[in-house]
Amino acid sequence: MTAKIISGTEVAKEIRAELKIRVDKCKAKGVTPGLVIIRVGDDPASVSYVTGKEQAAEEIGVWSETFVLPETATEGDLLAKVEEMNKAEHVHGILVQLPVPKHINADKVLDLIDPAKDVDGFHPINVGKMLIGDPYFMPCTPYGAVELMIRSGNAPAGKHVVICGRSNIVGKPLMAMLVQKNARGNATITVVHTGTPNMAEYTRQADILVACMGVPEIIKADMVKEGAVVIDVGVNRVGMKPSKKDPNKMVADLRGDVEFGPVSEKASAITPVPGGVGPMTITILMQNTVVAAERHAGVA
Ligand code: GUN
Repeated sequence: MTAKIISGTEVAKEIRAELKIRVDKCKAKGVTPGLVIIRVGDDPASVSYVTGKEQAAEEIGVWSETFVLPETATEGDLLAKVEEMNKAEHVHGILVQLPVPKHINADKVLDLIDPAKDVDGFHPINVGKMLIGDPYFMPCTPYGAVELMIRSGNAPAGKHVVICGRSNIVGKPLMAMLVQKNARGNATITVVHTGTPNMAEYTRQADILVACMGVPEIIKADMVKEGAVVIDVGVNRVGMKPSKKDPNKMVADLRGDVEFGPVSEKASAITPVPGGVGPMTITILMQNTVVAAERHAGVA
């Protein structure tokens, strides 16, 4: 079997077109959706992610501003910036790009973000609301992965989904979303992780396999059931290569958590890296920002 490619780029385009219309409705009510991104230091992956978010905002008409604090900024500096943005009337969404330098306690920073502006969905209140099935904002990457399943005709309801990875950003929230008794959930879920002996025993039982361990090409073909749907959340930088657009420019060589070639011979559908879950993450961030602005504007 040769897998159908699930294009996150295409699905993201579709959602962004829908969002543009919602942005215009907010603007007609005098509210321009506004997103503030705060980055500390110059980690190359973070710089690239933030650029992608700024471009997506511009594309759909969301106003955005990025504050870059030096690597040496203190926890107090970052907390003060978050506090200032919590109070700013024109800011509907706040995102602190992770990871932050080791001398800063990320949990303390995330806890300070106003839950009503927490477009990343990382605040403990929003995590708790998601878990009890009363979501307010949900994390962008797992939300995007679910949206990709649904819009590609691979809804998780009634399926056995095996999630490889238990991070707070992807694995755990994905588990919380898929377990819900609703049209977007209703799956049977297994979570495997670095503490699971013989992971392949579980992954081979997956109707839908989600790889989110952050280890390049850890999922091999012999770990995948014939005909499974494979969602690859991994974005691993394995080196540099010449850019396709401009061969004189070097860009990061990206690999997913799935060994794409051999697995795509066995799966029925698979997301590529890049162009799979990545564009969805950014698009759902935009969606969350638009939702925040709609609440502010009283637009249903
Ligand atoms: N770093 C990697 N993924 C994410 C994300 O979804 N949000 C933030 N803020 N930082 C990240």
